Amino acid sequence: MQENQKPRNFFEWNDRLYSVGIPQIDDQHKELVALLNELFTAMHAGKGREALGNVLQGLVKYAGYHFATEERLMQQHGYPEYALHKEKHNKMTRKVLELKTQFDDGVISAPVQISNFLKNWLARHIMETDRKFGKYLADR
Ligand SMILES: [Fe+2]
Repeated sequence: MQENQKPRNFFEWNDRLYSVGIPQIDDQHKELVALLNELFTAMHAGKGREALGNVLQGLVKYAGYHFATEERLMQQHGYPEYALHKEKHNKMTRKVLELKTQFDDGVISAPVQISNFLKNWLARHIMETDRKFGKYLADR
């Protein structure tokens, strides 16, 4: 690798694409992105199942905390799409727990499916769903 070439992250944060205009939420999204990069790095460093399981567990935990923060904020501001948005969080939480169980049971050996799935879901959810709420707040 050339000296001036910074290694690319698996998931590169981009303000223009992902900022929802709410600093607290942006910070939490950045933390989720960092955790996803950690999962990806651990995977490619050939870390063992236990280490990967720990990173995955950290992600699940932080995602729960983050969803709760967003939902509280939506409720505080009487967001009309709160129920719909919360349902997307619930569905995702169920899906991630299912993936985590499959990983723990050895059904999924490498979490490459998990990291790709999470990355795509998060990027899309931020751009399509969270930004809508950010716009609602900004327009008030
Ligand atoms: Fe959200």
